[in-house]
Amino acid sequence: MIPTVEWKAGVICLLDQTQLPGRTMIFECRDVATVASAIRELRVRGAPAIGVTAAMGVALGAQSVATTDVPVFEKHVLAVCEQLAATRPTAINLFWALERMKRVLQTNRERTVGEIQSRLVDEALAIQQEDIAMCKTMGQHGATLIRHRQNILTHCNAGALATAGYGTALGVVRAAWEQGKKIHVFAGETRPVLQGARLTVWELMEDGIPVTLITDNMAGALMQQGRIDLCVVGADRIAANGDVANKIGTYSIAVLARVHSIPFYVVAPSSTIDLLALSGSPVPIEERPSCEITALHGGTWIAPQGVHVLNPAFDVTPAEYITAIVTERGVFAPDRVAETIQR
Ligand code: MRU
Repeated sequence: MIPTVEWKAGVICLLDQTQLPGRTMIFECRDVATVASAIRELRVRGAPAIGVTAAMGVALGAQSVATTDVPVFEKHVLAVCEQLAATRPTAINLFWALERMKRVLQTNRERTVGEIQSRLVDEALAIQQEDIAMCKTMGQHGATLIRHRQNILTHCNAGALATAGYGTALGVVRAAWEQGKKIHVFAGETRPVLQGARLTVWELMEDGIPVTLITDNMAGALMQQGRIDLCVVGADRIAANGDVANKIGTYSIAVLARVHSIPFYVVAPSSTIDLLALSGSPVPIEERPSCEITALHGGTWIAPQGVHVLNPAFDVTPAEYITAIVTERGVFAPDRVAETIQR
């Protein structure tokens, strides 16, 4: 599969997710403004992938500073971090990655600008590689929760496309499949941007993993009919008490799963845990443009022009509806997951 995000000799190459599944196009970012708009426009999306791209964006921005004066350089790079931080508010991985890049600045002040520039590139590449490794480890932990011939419901896209590679929720599916478990996935289409229909289905079909596309409003009926054995989703931010912010619609699925006694699992790297958010309520929920709801992908209107629209991109699932959270450190009760990280 083509990598989600790559650093190629000072150019950030994104697999343009707005074009999938119809076209596999590479979107090249040669400056920070282009990186920021690519994140905002969902050319790259998914919490870990946004973090990796933003880290590379900082490395890219740092390379364009023509000074040998370290304080001037630092000021410029911090402005780049602010520009990238203003792209999307919900996924904590963005801010986590920017903090790591800022730490490189702080701990290398005695070096030359050229040396700091190359350390920033190294850090961005390390974040990318660590993300792939964490996804593979989460896959191994999470696959223990999946049995032969089970039917799995997932929402949005928490796959290779949403990370540097392999995926979180879909990483678990992939690992179970690679272990020879004959599983089957129901992918909710995920209105309004259709990450499930366009991206999850595409990824799973590429890997030959059996998948059936459903509309979001079918989940309850399928659970009632006993056709779903477990639910697996990703996360954009996990609060200290185990509440989870993820794609809008996740909460509805979790409540339905509880009513039908179906396990509901969240899979995310520890970079998604926000110890400063004591619960899900302070997590900022991104409100996206109304045209995502009123018009289809190609621009065809499906609602009367001028209608009032609500378009929150995420919701919060309280910890009580989550059976367990899988991180690279293992499988945890939601209210114990914060204990597993040290910042
Ligand atoms: O708006 P998106 O497509 O960036 O939303 C993505 C999600 O909600 C994913 O489930 C989440 O980021 C986890 S991705 C491993």
